[in-house]
Amino acid sequence: NVQGDRKRAEHFSDGECISSEEWKVKVKAVVLGAAGGIGQPLSLLLKTNPAITELGLFDIVNTPGVAVDLSHIDTPAVVVGRLPPDDGLKAVLTGADIVVIPAGVPRKPGMTRDDLFKINGGIVKDLATGIATFCPKAFVLVISNPVNSTVPIVAEVFKHHKVYDPKRIFGVTTLDVVRASTFVAEIIGKTDVVREVAIPVVGGHSGVTIVPLLSQSSHPLPADLAKDKFDALVNRIQFGGDEVVKAKDGAGSATLSMAYAGFEFANKIIRAFKGEKGIVAPSFVALEADPTGGAALAKELATEIAFFSSNVELGPEGVAKIHPLGKITPGETELVKAAIPELQKNIDTGVTFCREKY
Ligand code: NAD
Ligand code: LMR
Repeated sequence: NVQGDRKRAEHFSDGECISSEEWKVKVKAVVLGAAGGIGQPLSLLLKTNPAITELGLFDIVNTPGVAVDLSHIDTPAVVVGRLPPDDGLKAVLTGADIVVIPAGVPRKPGMTRDDLFKINGGIVKDLATGIATFCPKAFVLVISNPVNSTVPIVAEVFKHHKVYDPKRIFGVTTLDVVRASTFVAEIIGKTDVVREVAIPVVGGHSGVTIVPLLSQSSHPLPADLAKDKFDALVNRIQFGGDEVVKAKDGAGSATLSMAYAGFEFANKIIRAFKGEKGIVAPSFVALEADPTGGAALAKELATEIAFFSSNVELGPEGVAKIHPLGKITPGETELVKAAIPELQKNIDTGVTFCREKY
């Protein structure tokens, strides 16, 4: 009953209304790594989105059980869970519009995200090969770390398979944006309206490559905020992941907040895919996805870097426009400068890994 489903859509999405034309667009979402710490809650959240008509779950373990469990939830998405045997990856990916990848190992205390590359690089390369083969036009949302290197891997795989469209490949950096909003709202005493607190976070997704542009916060910080408190805030946003890894004490890294952040970003991609205009979100993308905007951003950065996270306007084809950094402070300029060499190294790691294999 479409009327009933529309009413529920309005209910679930805080009263946001979509036209009946947009409503008719079918959306198949797929999660690769769906049985994991992020994969399960992310799949649950995606199942609650009434805009999703099919939900495909793939992992090397447990997806049939997760899928049956989720399939009892009274929302439209038909859920299918498959394992590698009998072409499970092919079955799940065929017809996908959006593929989210949280497959791979998480950090333990004392590790950097780069330490995950050895294992996760290969996992992401294999899964990207599946996407390039079975659903090359899908939007690909990469969560697996190190994002600064795994996104270039997906790009290289797609180039190798001659299906590369830089507009459709995204590194998910939304958790940095979510953390920035939360931590700033705490400082300014606005936790009641934290969802309205928006801070662009640019660069990449690890340590010093995470650059919050606090001067562009929708809710300015107090002008008299002490320098040590300001620096501690920047550091907390850059190393928020480490805070969770430490607290989990060997049991992994952020999963629930990441599922929330991944869901937020996936929803934006789906809304833009269905025709909603003006949706902007920071994401780690190839600058060539928008040659004009990308060139302007590269000029601001004074570097030829191939991937960078900046505010991205989303459209039905994926990246519609890459926004410039805009006006930033001298302190933020220094943070951006510090991010670039590390980011370049991470990108090179991903590209070299793939090129050596082909
Ligand atoms: P997890 O170990 O709980 O889950 C990972 C899942 O991937 C497991 O179920 C595992 O079976 C599955 N998997 C492994 N190899 C696979 C393959 N070849 N095909 C399909 N599935 C496969 O880990 P997690 O806590 O969910 O974290 C997953 C990844 O996400 C890690 O790399 C972590 O660093 C990253 N992460 C990224 C962000 C971000 O902001 N981008 C945030 C948090 C975590
Ligand atoms: C995060 O930012 O929480 C993730 O990238 C996981 C991690 O390893 O910190």
